[in-house]
Amino acid sequence: MSENIVWHQHNVSHQDRCQQKSQKPCVLWFTGLSGSGKSTVANAVEALLFKNNNHSYLLDGDNVRHGLNKDLSFNDEDRVENIRRIGEVAKLFADSGLIVLSAFISPFRTDRQQVRELLNEGEFIEVFVDTPLEVCEQRDPKGLYKKARAGDIQNFTGLDSPYETPESPEIHLQAGSKPVDELAQEVISYLKTHGFIG
Ligand code: PPS
Repeated sequence: MSENIVWHQHNVSHQDRCQQKSQKPCVLWFTGLSGSGKSTVANAVEALLFKNNNHSYLLDGDNVRHGLNKDLSFNDEDRVENIRRIGEVAKLFADSGLIVLSAFISPFRTDRQQVRELLNEGEFIEVFVDTPLEVCEQRDPKGLYKKARAGDIQNFTGLDSPYETPESPEIHLQAGSKPVDELAQEVISYLKTHGFIG
């Protein structure tokens, strides 16, 4: 970072924005294997938040890789950079007072921990979308597991690239066996119980 950069203090504070929105901002960090249901559940949660008049924004793996992170591949180094950038974006959005939902595989524990440390205390909510690899592979919604098994995709998470499961996620969703509506409600209940939304 350049030495000649100075942080600006703005007139409207994080606190002001939170009060105006009548919600406590946070980052719901959905993590799990490809095909585990991260995007589907995050989408369902966001629809419920919208109905409840909450202000939110959903950052999604495939979408972000179409724009901001289109220069990144799936090797370990680029996955680390992917999550670092998304963490910074999530921080800005949370600072604006939004409830941020992010749906990225984010396979490495240290990267998820770094995003946690980037945010204000208590604003990072790790949501483990826990669907067994066999179920993800059977679902194979984009046909990627098939391609990876055939050797047409390298470094595929869960096959020839690691996924480090969360050790103590705030929310643990058994997403291989429960319907999406029920999983989304579990997340909403957490937000209500912990005072993020009314
Ligand atoms: S990561 O690991 O957090 O950087 O990945 P992410 O940005 O979430 O992108 C995951 C989506 O990219 C597609 N895809 C792959 N996933 C895993 N491994 C490899 N090699 C790969 N190549 C492409 C895939 O559609 C993932 O989407 P989801 O929604 O997770 O299935």
